[in-house]
Amino acid sequence: MSKSKHISWHGSLVTKEMRQKRNKHKSAVLWFTGLSGSGKSTITVELERKLYQLGIHTYRLDGDNIRHGLNKNLGFTAEGRSENIRRIGEVSKLFIDAGVLALTAFISPYRDDRNLVRALLPSNEFIEIYVKCRLEVCEERDPKGLYKKARAGEIAGFTGIDAPYEAPISPELTIDTEKLSVEEAAQRVIHYLLEKEYLT
Ligand code: PPS
Repeated sequence: MSKSKHISWHGSLVTKEMRQKRNKHKSAVLWFTGLSGSGKSTITVELERKLYQLGIHTYRLDGDNIRHGLNKNLGFTAEGRSENIRRIGEVSKLFIDAGVLALTAFISPYRDDRNLVRALLPSNEFIEIYVKCRLEVCEERDPKGLYKKARAGEIAGFTGIDAPYEAPISPELTIDTEKLSVEEAAQRVIHYLLEKEYLT
């Protein structure tokens, strides 16, 4: 369904810039993408804990959680996943406007979908973080037993098994979870945020 012609934009007197100034840090979305079991959720949980301790305003959006509420009407077809990511892109934009550093953990398997989110935001506000881990390692970890079910034919269209994952071509950051601990991964992201002056 497309947008009605009979709506108009209502601006605020409190701007994103004012909120960022008060929060003493920039707002952006840290967009974590990777296979199921690659470590997206684990890293964002630890990263958020560290950022909170530094006084940063954050909010974490996680695939499993969002699919319990806002996106519970969406499945895992290509269309369902695209709509999932489109909505999360829009939600991230709202968080950015609110002066928050949003941390998203979605498989977001399609490059085009991620690029649509990138295009929705000013270039420095979308930070794509590829959580890299080979399929066989994710499958060995299998924290929720989903790969086992997918192999047994109990889940159709599981990412990496019978649905695609398109790795980022030039992400802002790559975190290899076969090499880095959760602690090191979180530190690496904080280092990036300091280096690029999102945090001061
Ligand atoms: S997507 O592809 O970005 O829309 O997926 P996302 O919203 O991140 O949800 C991924 C979590 O849903 C569970 N799950 C599946 N994943 C992949 N493929 C299929 N078919 C599937 N069915 C359920 C799974 O727990 C994913 O969580 P993570 O944290 O990635 O393991």
